[in-house]
Formats: sequence, structure tokens, C-alpha cells
Amino acid sequence: SQAVGLVGWRGMVGSVLMQRMRDENDFSLFQPVFFSTSNAGGAAPSWADGAGALQDAYDIDTLKKLPVILTAQGGDYTNAVYPKLRAAGWDGVWIDAASSLRMADDAIIVLDPVNRPVIDAALKRGVKNFIGGNCTVSCMLMGMAGLFNEDLIDWMSSMTYQAASGGGAQHMRELLTQFGTLNAAVRPLLDDPAAAILEIDRGVLTAQQDADLAREHFGVPLGGSLIPWIDKDLGNGVSREEWKAEAETNKILGRGPAFGTPATPIDGLCVRIGAMRCHSQALTIKLKRNVPLDEVADILAQGSDWAKVVPNEREATMQQLTPVAVTGTMDIPVGRLRKMSMGDEYLSAFTVGDQLLWGAAEPLRRMLRITLG
Ligand code: HSE
Repeated sequence: SQAVGLVGWRGMVGSVLMQRMRDENDFSLFQPVFFSTSNAGGAAPSWADGAGALQDAYDIDTLKKLPVILTAQGGDYTNAVYPKLRAAGWDGVWIDAASSLRMADDAIIVLDPVNRPVIDAALKRGVKNFIGGNCTVSCMLMGMAGLFNEDLIDWMSSMTYQAASGGGAQHMRELLTQFGTLNAAVRPLLDDPAAAILEIDRGVLTAQQDADLAREHFGVPLGGSLIPWIDKDLGNGVSREEWKAEAETNKILGRGPAFGTPATPIDGLCVRIGAMRCHSQALTIKLKRNVPLDEVADILAQGSDWAKVVPNEREATMQQLTPVAVTGTMDIPVGRLRKMSMGDEYLSAFTVGDQLLWGAAEPLRRMLRITLG
């Protein structure tokens, strides 16, 4: 079987990816060669029978021998190694979780349940770079695929509620450290049922505003607060995370000027909240025509095997449409479906997805399978 180089398999995304690949028996399809940026010569993971020692992830000559490389090592690694590898004449398939190459003309953003025709056409023309999409975009598309497939979306506004994991493992730890500090600051008052709630609230605020509160990664307190800005400031009032929604969605679907078709406008605000690893989003969708709600629900449910329509009722929503309900599952529930007061063509929706599964690992392992045929 073919050899596949694996880089960045030990980090958070990489670990989720390895677990999914083991669960799906992907390792029976190829010969893994494990790379490391820091521990070349060390032992391959114990579960990978027969894999040799870890190879140096910066050694172009070793990388060059592999027909397929899959990396979840991050953008800095991609920027450092990928150009050298191509410059050295490497002609293999590069599958990458990082955003570095996503918008390049010679790269495809992979989300095969949604854009398999785009992927197949690219393979036919000899495209070699297959990049996972932004987590928010991928999770949104896995929920809304039906409406996009039927070309029913005139425009969409997406307001996000993004989990700490989007920042990385250290961000998740920092959030929990902050929650712990806040709890500890008011613990005696919490234990006293007679304590005044406004005194507890004051104590929390004092701890949040304390310069000693752990905030190295988020920059400001997130526990008991939120941050309405994610990623870089593009200088035009738009955050980079917000820019990705329209740019990546259209590229994934093969729409927009580059494809000779109009792009679907998608815009909104991206907000970090104190969830662990599920990104949620509230969507306002302007439909191209007045589609009855039951039809919308059918279209969404048939849009992908993973989209699950949640009845727009209180109890079902509370039980099924939350980060806690979705974490660790492949399901992408879509709920809060109703027509809005602006008119029959205005649809509201709310969707939740595990940012590390459909948002990162899953599209990559599926692309690897497609590559291996
Ligand atoms: N940029 C995303 C976030 C994660 O910060 O939530 C990576 O796609």
C-alpha cells in the first residue's frame, strides 16, 4: 500500500484526527510514516504497529519520497516547509488543516459531503493541494448543505458563538482556569444561601478585572464574558474570521467570479464565547423564494447524512441544539427554523457543530480516503 506522511498528529486537531482514523480503520489502507518537528528519532505512537521511528518534519529529502502528506501541524509549518518541498520538485498530494494555502488558486477547500464534484473535477485536472476549511464555515455548510444544493439561498447572515478550542488547546485551558478563579473568588458567598447576589456579582467582576487573572491567550477575560472579535483585524471593520464566511463558502461550492457565477453574499459577526469545542451560529437566510417550512426541513435533512433537523420547540432545542449535546458527535443539528417577521422569504436557523470533528479532522481523513481511491 501507499506511504502517507503524517505531520502534526500529536496536537489537539491531530489527536482527534488520529482517533477518527483509527475508529474508521483508515490505517489499513496505507503505510503511515510519522513525522515530528521536535522529536525526530523518537518512537512512533504505540498503537501504530510496525511504524518506524519518527522522521524529521523539516527534512525535505525525506518528505519528498512520500506520495501523500497530511498535516495538522499548523500554518507556520506549512509556510516554512510546503514551498521548499514544491521547489524541490515534489509532486505529491498535500492535505492540510491550516489556512495558509486555502485561498490559493491551485488549492481546493475540501468538504466532500458538500463539494465532492468540485474535488473530483480538481483531481481530474491534476490539482495536488487539498485544504480543510475554516471550522465555522465547514460546520455551517454541513448543516445548510440542502439549501445550498437547491440554490435557494439569496444571501445569509451568520452570527457565531465560537468555542475556546478554535484558539487552540491553551485557550481551552485558560478558559477553565478563569472559570476556576472566578468560582474561587466568591466561593464562601456562594456557599452562604443568605449572601446577596449583587455582592457575589461584584466579587466576580473584581476577579475578572484583576490584572492577575490568567489571560495570556485570549488577551481579556472570556469566562463570564465574551469577545466579539476573532482572528486578525483586516482594517476595514471586518475580522478575518468574518471575511472567511463568504470567501471560503463560495470557494468550497465552486461559486463566484473565479467560476463565472455570482457569489452568494454571506456576512455577519464572529464572537468567542465560553463553550469548549462546539461552534454555534445563528443564521438569517434570505431565500430566493417563499419555501414552506416543512419543505425547508426536508431539504435540510436530506442535505447531508449528518444534518439533523431539530423541531423548533423549547424542550427539543434545549436538549439537542447545544454544544454539550453535540460535542464528540458527528451530528450537525439545525434548529430554530422559522419564518421571520420581515417576510416569508426570511428564514432563521441555528446550528451547532463539533469544531474539531467536522470543523477540522473529518474533512481531512475523508480526503485522504478519496486520494487513496
Ligand atoms: N479560526 C477558528 C476559531 C478556528 O478561532 O474559532 C480555526 O478554523
